[in-house]
Amino acid sequence: MYKIAVIPGDGTGPEVIREGQKVLEAVSQKYNFKYETKIFDFGAERYLKTGKVLENEDIEELKKYSAIYLGAVGHPKVKPGILEAGLLLKLRFSFDQYINLRPVKLYNADFCPLKGKKPEDVDFVVVRENSEGLYRGMGEFKDKGTKDEVAIQISYNTRKGVERCIRYAFEYCRKRNKKKKLTLCGKTNVLTFAWDLWERTFNEVAKEYPDITTDYAHVDATTMWFVKNPEWFDMIVTDNMFGDIITDLGAMIQGGMGIAAGGNINPAGVSMFEPIGGSAPKYTGKNVINPLAAICALGMLLENLGEVKAGQAVEDAVIKVVTKKLKSLAAGKMGYSTTEVGDLVVEYLK
Ligand code: IPM
Ligand code: MN
Repeated sequence: MYKIAVIPGDGTGPEVIREGQKVLEAVSQKYNFKYETKIFDFGAERYLKTGKVLENEDIEELKKYSAIYLGAVGHPKVKPGILEAGLLLKLRFSFDQYINLRPVKLYNADFCPLKGKKPEDVDFVVVRENSEGLYRGMGEFKDKGTKDEVAIQISYNTRKGVERCIRYAFEYCRKRNKKKKLTLCGKTNVLTFAWDLWERTFNEVAKEYPDITTDYAHVDATTMWFVKNPEWFDMIVTDNMFGDIITDLGAMIQGGMGIAAGGNINPAGVSMFEPIGGSAPKYTGKNVINPLAAICALGMLLENLGEVKAGQAVEDAVIKVVTKKLKSLAAGKMGYSTTEVGDLVVEYLK
């Protein structure tokens, strides 16, 4: 019996999570597994009413679950940063979800903004370090508010943190068994402390994986190649900040935020799966947002629980919807409502 904690969150989060839950029910029947869900009301509304984002007892409660399924965080009435840090980042850090796994896969060439690129050209996975780097919140102001002000923001990289991330990427690359190529994406030419550690660790760990071809690309060049030669990539490993940036570009070349999903993974603990787009306030409550990213996130969640066939079936059904039905992946332009897209996935699952 899987226990899934559901955090619909803000904006369009509840709409897309509802479709994900519909798919979960259908796929559990087909693949014969049992689950229970509990909805948690963390997010802007609760914060505006109570001033609470995520308390330590909430974290303790979530520890009882097999996985967390998250919709979206962010609300126009809440100052940017409060919910991001207090909910999303707090969950990632509290559960030591040190991997942010973001597959970039084009399902339908018609939805790719790159000319002439086909599904086989855009098919790679980014492993983003998810617990350190600039996201650690380390730094300080000096002489704040004066004309001599200095703001320092530190990128914090530990050998252990870097190594466990790189090792995960090598293992995943071997298991994925495609081109068996892992690219380290960094900035060794300028950030000479952090990326020296990353590069040394990468090269050392690589010796244990002679079957994997390794490569290095600076982060700026990586963005260029995402557009020019996405087919060069099989897997990429990078730090938290670079991973954040390149996966938004990755989402665009796979067809947009409507389809991009990710997993915040602690291989030995509670992991959390989410569509990587935001809460989309302007589409909230209109039943026009694309739920496929959330449904893909559910597929990843199931795979992570060990329900590999069920996870694969969810992805296969999504591929059918994307190739046979939708006019676009963008909100309001799909040719179907949010609910109808969820229903289509369920139909193809059967
Ligand atoms: C993401 C988001 C978050 C991040 C924000 C909302 C804190 O952009 O999941 O990529 O920067 O990691
Ligand atoms: Mn981001």
